[in-house]
Amino acid sequence: MNIGIIGSGAMGNGIAQVAAMAGHKVVVYDNNTAALDKAKAATEKALQKLAEKGKITDAAELFARYTYVNNLEELKDSGLVIEAIIEQLDIKKSVFAQLETIVSEACILASNTSSLSIASIAAACKKADRVIGIHFFNPAPVMALVEIIPAIQTREGLAQEIKELMLAWKKVPVLTKDTPGFIVNRVARPFYGEAIRIMEEGLAGKEDIDLALTQLGGFKMGPFTLTDYIGHDVNYVVTETVFQSFYYDPKYRPAFAQKRLLEAGWLGRKSGKGFYNYENGEPVLTTALNEVEQKTIVERILFMLINEAVEALYLNIASAADLDLAMTKGVNYPKGLLQWCDELGADYVLAGMDALYKTYHDDRYRASALLRKYGTEKRKFFN
Ligand SMILES: NC(=O)c1ccc[n+]([C@@H]2O[C@H](COP(=O)([O-])OP(=O)(O)OC[C@H]3O[C@@H](n4cnc5c(N)ncnc54)[C@H](O)[C@@H]3O)[C@@H](O)[C@H]2O)c1
Repeated sequence: MNIGIIGSGAMGNGIAQVAAMAGHKVVVYDNNTAALDKAKAATEKALQKLAEKGKITDAAELFARYTYVNNLEELKDSGLVIEAIIEQLDIKKSVFAQLETIVSEACILASNTSSLSIASIAAACKKADRVIGIHFFNPAPVMALVEIIPAIQTREGLAQEIKELMLAWKKVPVLTKDTPGFIVNRVARPFYGEAIRIMEEGLAGKEDIDLALTQLGGFKMGPFTLTDYIGHDVNYVVTETVFQSFYYDPKYRPAFAQKRLLEAGWLGRKSGKGFYNYENGEPVLTTALNEVEQKTIVERILFMLINEAVEALYLNIASAADLDLAMTKGVNYPKGLLQWCDELGADYVLAGMDALYKTYHDDRYRASALLRKYGTEKRKFFN
């Protein structure tokens, strides 16, 4: 099967590499020739590096599977097209409508969107039942997780076909409902939001919080280091989009401390400044907190994360196994959140959430009905 890719940016070009390495011929289309040239050069370099490391045998043979084009018509022989262009619904819709006039009836049309609903994109197509979300993580050749998102229009069975294809591409596919943030960008929100909130309240400094989560929590990066790495233009906008998409649920309320960074142009590592200053090299973080104080911070953020995962399970966003896979493979959490809940005890996590609610009387801290059930009955999510 030939794979068509629309958009040769960071994601499109990364997905093209995954497909080419899985043995497909790949046609990459972009309406910007400079972007195409850049992507082509980046691919050649990336494949040469893989060959030097012994990960592939023949870079030239692999590169020969690619065609870079600036005419959408050239995608006509694709069996699957994955769109990874700018995150704007009207533009995506017009590309999908045009694409449908070019490809065969059987061609599957997928979007790599992070924040738009698949239903809204599928609505641009006459044959909407062949449209599905296939959400890769950045960088696509490295990150194993792929979220598969059938829209309400998507035909029965297509998600399973894509799941099998992703397994053949050596990815870890999870199935999720077409709701804001899918799994990862929804369940991970408290990691950032609650950490910033703790800082805003003056309970601990950003370095204290980052070090508590890495040293005691086992996370690879603390929330301030991580958001500086992701970029506040990306991370803040995702938070705001999720908040608006959930009808302003206070659980997802963005923080002024992060909004001001964005407004100041302090976008993080890439602009030299964010929560930390990178202009004079790597910041060295220190903390005077003891383990008991660190535990208070880690638990507050962890309770919120677990509560979010439990609520996603309660609302059938994904299965328990997929929720845990998503967080370990998509954002490298040290453990799946539901497994973590089992280890701590759902009753313990519930007591933590209820204590937060009692302190703040803010709906942000409401425990999921399923956490209350599992906590009360002392049940586990996995045996
Ligand atoms: N960057 C991430 O971390 C990430 C992760 C997962 C999903 N996504 C999603 O993937 C998509 C692409 O993101 P990205 O980071 O690769 O963006 P990017 O800006 O790096 O690349 C987008 C490319 O699309 C091209 N493009 C724009 N409009 C086009 C059009 N009408 N026709 C053809 N090409 C067009 C641009 O020239 C550019 O080369 C977005 O929907 C984004 O939400 C991004």
